[in-house]
Amino acid sequence: MYKIAVIPGDGIGKIVTPETIRVLESIDLKFEFQHMEVGYEVFKKVGTSVPEDVISSLRNTQACLFGATTTPVDVPNYRSAVVTLRKALDLYANVRPARSYPIRGQVKDVDLVIVRENTEGLYSGIEFATKDSAFAMRVITRRACERVARFAFDLAMRRRRKLIVVTKANIMRKTCGLFREVTLFVAENYPEVEVDEMFVDAAAMNLVLKPQVFDVILTSNLFGDILSDEAAGLVGGLGLAPSANIGDDYGLFEPVHGSAPDIAGKGIANPIAAILSAKMLLDFLGEVTWAERVENAVSAVLKKRKYLTPDLGGSSTTREVTEAIISALEKI
Ligand code: NAI
Ligand code: MG
Repeated sequence: MYKIAVIPGDGIGKIVTPETIRVLESIDLKFEFQHMEVGYEVFKKVGTSVPEDVISSLRNTQACLFGATTTPVDVPNYRSAVVTLRKALDLYANVRPARSYPIRGQVKDVDLVIVRENTEGLYSGIEFATKDSAFAMRVITRRACERVARFAFDLAMRRRRKLIVVTKANIMRKTCGLFREVTLFVAENYPEVEVDEMFVDAAAMNLVLKPQVFDVILTSNLFGDILSDEAAGLVGGLGLAPSANIGDDYGLFEPVHGSAPDIAGKGIANPIAAILSAKMLLDFLGEVTWAERVENAVSAVLKKRKYLTPDLGGSSTTREVTEAIISALEKI
């Protein structure tokens, strides 16, 4: 029996998360789901996006399935719920795979993973302003660089053994300099992994021109956020992009997309990004066979092209796509 926390969040998080649970309930494993609430709707009720008791309840579970939350830019002092959870649970590695699935018009043969440092960098949350100037603190620590680098190298060892560290160390000589230095230091323990370096601007271009050359990309928080949306765009968009936030003993799994207010309530959100995040959860739990089956079921549905949501050029609903995946799973 796996104890899994479920946080649907706001907007389409409330739609795609229950669909994902239906997929997990259709497979031959036992889960105890514990439902919790964080996000903007919670903030409006109780004045904080992440109530204290949620953190302690999460600690009593093995992992969390997270939907998406709204982070309004115009509410002063509001802090993103998921950024708060990543920090509170010390989920230091944000893992974002981008893979070519069999859909028309998509770039072929992409199979890369972006590992993004998830607790500091420009998202450290330390900002201040005077009347006419504003400042953000880009915090980079040796400890955080080292643990995320080890995570990325371990992952590279299980893949094609190629790692590219992405920085802007030519300009941000101290912060990116430290990130780069620590990565190259950790690399010495992984002689089988081929290590390369790229500046973030060149990486952004190469992702478009020749994404097939990338295996594992290791980078800092903001760069990883941007490059991973770019990589998602190459292979079908946010409706297909899953992610994992991993710490030493906990994992939180969420689609890369946000609460998508423009389509919330219309029943047309693509559930696949959330379902592939559950696939990553299964991998994390060591259920690799089930993880593979879920991914194969998604692939089979995409290949048939019969049940696709509008973001992929179809006209199916969220529920119809989920149903198709569940019935493909039954046949695998
Ligand atoms: P978004 O990811 O919510 O939406 C971007 C575009 O992609 C929209 O046109 C949306 O309709 C489309 N889209 C996203 N997911 C989709 C899906 N599953 N199926 C079909 N189309 C999909 O990003 P946006 O609009 O920048 O942000 C909306 C809200 O979400 C904001 O409040 C933002 O702060 C929050 N957000 C939360 C994240 C999280 O909880 N981890 C991540 C990114 C944004
Ligand atoms: Mg993002």
